[in-house]
Amino acid sequence: MIKVITYGTFDLFHFGHQRLLERAKALGDYLIVGVTADGFDRARGKINVQQSLMERMEAVKATGIADEVIVEEYEGQKIDDIMRYGVDIFAIGSDWKCYFDYLDEYCQVVYLERTAGVSSSELRAEKREVHLGLVGDSLFLNKFEKESHFVNGVKIVGLCVSPSVAVGLSDELRCLPCVTEDYDALLREVDAVYILSKPADHYEQIKAAILCGKHVLCEPPIALSVKEWAELNELAKTKGCILMDAIRTAYSTAYYRLLLLVKSGCIGKVVSVDASCTSLRDNDITPNERREKWNSICSWGPNALLPVFQILGVDYKQKTITSHIEDESVMYDSFTKITFIYPQAVASIKVGKGVKTEGELVVSGTTGYVYVPAPWWKMDYFEIRREDPTENKRYFYQLDGEGIRYELVSFLKAIQSGKNFSYINDKVSEAFVQVMEDFYKGCNLIRI
Ligand code: CTP
Repeated sequence: MIKVITYGTFDLFHFGHQRLLERAKALGDYLIVGVTADGFDRARGKINVQQSLMERMEAVKATGIADEVIVEEYEGQKIDDIMRYGVDIFAIGSDWKCYFDYLDEYCQVVYLERTAGVSSSELRAEKREVHLGLVGDSLFLNKFEKESHFVNGVKIVGLCVSPSVAVGLSDELRCLPCVTEDYDALLREVDAVYILSKPADHYEQIKAAILCGKHVLCEPPIALSVKEWAELNELAKTKGCILMDAIRTAYSTAYYRLLLLVKSGCIGKVVSVDASCTSLRDNDITPNERREKWNSICSWGPNALLPVFQILGVDYKQKTITSHIEDESVMYDSFTKITFIYPQAVASIKVGKGVKTEGELVVSGTTGYVYVPAPWWKMDYFEIRREDPTENKRYFYQLDGEGIRYELVSFLKAIQSGKNFSYINDKVSEAFVQVMEDFYKGCNLIRI
């Protein structure tokens, strides 16, 4: 009996897949099909897959062509499978020509002509491309634009920016079809906006977007008062729009796995979460510029608060905010420390813009602790440490594009399905805003 094996993602199963399987089967008597696991796809840069592993495996099985369907989970598995299943022929589409020649040491390698004119990528893009507009006052937009090219089905078509920021923007951004200072003009051209403007502008900008039926991805805080936050969320629901916090850390695989491990009790009961996020300013800024810039608590607060609220929840009993406020007129804090007391745990964050400290994250538990070195918010690695260092474990994950592309994929999925796929739930989003509101109102605020 001649055994043939082939592999693929088989997302949105199409005619090209069907033909490939038929021809692979015709090469022998028994066909094994390896379907890639979600994590494996993500690690190899295929981040837009629409269907779950189960759905994709079901689609392959439904053809009735495969005699066996297996999961491909790791780099190097093909050699393992070929030997384990006693495979005679490895078959794959011609888009992989030469790539798998190294397998000829183990079996015959056959490249089958790829069917012209159809691909999962095209089908995903066809699902209705989302036209996105950018709003903001930061050169980070350059990075965001670059990352958007990794995501099928989204196209940046416009930009609302002040002339002073426009100077530093990439050619790609400056040459977009709609570059304007008029926010309403941008809204007319797009399906959704990514907002990176100063926090005091968020409420008005989000409200205007949602009233026009546009979806919103916004750098938190979404608003500066809980009342405004609630109003925007209600409005988004009524209008059928997605409103999502943009914190890329939440979308990094390492951070997400860390959460899962901690929640499954790998360090026992969590008693403390401590996170710091700080950066230095390029130059001393003038009071006027301060009005335009993000202060420490808005720039870094939500990011530092993310693990606190996602691990310990938002029902803290007490909170103290200690800030060094450089300019009272605009509440510009160059450094803020916040401590939280929960019924059975504590937490602290330190954020700074103009003050620097070690940007690490430590989650302490009754059987060990998680340590993430600086800059923890760009996490691709963390360690679980125990009393006995020989029991320490290190976890490594790939982080592409600081998580921006994964965040965009979630935003897109939410828009396409009408369900919120945000990794940051409403309670956490609201709790960010509560902290901001208390800071600006001076509640539980100590000035140093
Ligand atoms: N394939 C093919 N003809 C096509 C598309 C895919 O023969 N038009 C083959 C691929 O060469 C591969 C298998 O089908 O051997 C599974 O491919 P997969 O990567 O899952 O499908 P694509 O449509 O190429 O997906 P994507 O656009 O995401 O790369």
